[in-house]
Amino acid sequence: MTPEPHSLTGTDDPALGPPPGCPAHNRGPGGLHRLYGPEAEDLASLYETLREEHGPVAPVLLHDDVPMWVVLGHTENLHVVRTPSQYCRDSRIWSPLQEGMVKPDHPLMPHIAWEPICSYAEGDEHLRLRGAVTGAISTIDHRGTRRHINRATQRLVNQFCESGRADLVSDFAEHLPMAVMCEILGMPEEYNDRMVQATRDMLRGTETAIASHGYVLGALQRLTARRRQQPEEDFASQLIGHPARLTDDEVTKHLWVVLMAAYEATVNLIANVLRMVLTDPRFRAQLSGGQMTVPEAVEQSLWDEPPFSTVFAYYAKHDTELGGQRIRKGDGLLFGIAPGNVDPRVRPDLAANMQGNRSHLAFGGGPHECPGQDIARGIADTGVDALLMRLPDVQLDCDEEDLTWTHSIASRHLVELPVYFEPKPPQDIMQKPGHAPVPPQRATWQVGSVQTESSPPVAVAPVVEPQPVAPPPQQPYVPAPEPVRGLSAWQRFLRWWRGY
Ligand code: HEM
Repeated sequence: MTPEPHSLTGTDDPALGPPPGCPAHNRGPGGLHRLYGPEAEDLASLYETLREEHGPVAPVLLHDDVPMWVVLGHTENLHVVRTPSQYCRDSRIWSPLQEGMVKPDHPLMPHIAWEPICSYAEGDEHLRLRGAVTGAISTIDHRGTRRHINRATQRLVNQFCESGRADLVSDFAEHLPMAVMCEILGMPEEYNDRMVQATRDMLRGTETAIASHGYVLGALQRLTARRRQQPEEDFASQLIGHPARLTDDEVTKHLWVVLMAAYEATVNLIANVLRMVLTDPRFRAQLSGGQMTVPEAVEQSLWDEPPFSTVFAYYAKHDTELGGQRIRKGDGLLFGIAPGNVDPRVRPDLAANMQGNRSHLAFGGGPHECPGQDIARGIADTGVDALLMRLPDVQLDCDEEDLTWTHSIASRHLVELPVYFEPKPPQDIMQKPGHAPVPPQRATWQVGSVQTESSPPVAVAPVVEPQPVAPPPQQPYVPAPEPVRGLSAWQRFLRWWRGY
């Protein structure tokens, strides 16, 4: 039997669509807007159109005209993530999936399939899996991590500081979170260009993505096996030793979740913050007064350009009502972080700075709220601050209008951030963690400082005599042979991660 197509609004009869010649003709069945194709090239404008037409919760169509709600209101989004009795992250109850509307090759399929990981679990199982992750996160030494971030920043800046030019996306933002996360997880030896390229390759879904997936997964499996054998003081060992008694497979899966969640979002955050401090008049205007700190710039960026624009997805467990719309059991709802952050009811003036207000949706909320947000903030705050300390004269090397982004429903990624500055000598980064002095919070860069006048001075990392730094051996990324059974693992990853 062919299932009757699921409709959110009951208006999917094409005969009820707009008359020929009407601009609404580009829309899908029932006159609904599509979150894909030409209409979705500017998602931010589309969300505003939807808000005008439908209010805080709007019916939309995903690829293949699969129906979905997108939650646009700040309050409504918080209600969804904070009400596990009504909404969950278990796609197995999604009506279009049950009714066969979502084909196995649906471009959003990778986001959809359920996995036994904390992101999708509920109730006691969620508590067990998430408890292990948050338990391991709670043991992370923040001072040590700050030293790692500083050292990694110095190392990255050393690679381009003598040239006077850099692309702060590919030379900095795309590397720093990987260097720090490999250290935190317990596999500093795995951090290199190859790991970064393999991860980016996977996220882009290129032809070598399956091999790249195998490469990253292999590193995490080896780490799990090593630490099961011989625990050390790192995240992986804490995850293994947690009373939740995770199996090896669960450990590897959660190392994966943490590495991927931490990597892509923090790359976006760092790139966005750097762009803002280089271009945004609100920050430039405050430079002279020295009021705006890097942490404040980070928070403003989390409001204006959240690293994840939406999270796919939450599902209604019962018939209910949200933002004036009737939601039926089994309906899917996109957690709308970017549109929720610009809801005019919480931000009537988008130009106003949000200093001191952390109620943005960038890290979600409720039982699934991001447990790594302090680490993410730490990497962005400390990394950007240390970079600006090294390059206080850094300037954008193109017109702001020439900057470009890649888009998806899930996120927005700055492609390049070219900069120039006075060439500088490399700095000594050879001290071991624990001995490496922490650079001060900005003595010369005036985006801002978390230091107060009474803060004790912090030692500056010693600058060595200008001398050429041998470039790291070039290791062009050569994907491993495609694993025979890699496809399903890759599909499962994509299901969790991208959704199209
Ligand atoms: C700027 C960086 C980051 C952003 C914007 C971000 C954002 C998010 C969001 C929006 C969620 C889903 C919340 C929900 O469904 O309500 C999430 C979940 C999660 N994040 Fe993050 N995240 C970041 C960095 C990190 C880091 C550094 C870690 C680990 C060290 C991490 C670990 C996780 C985990 C494990 C989950 C799943 C939690 C659960 O389902 O219980 N994230 N994150």
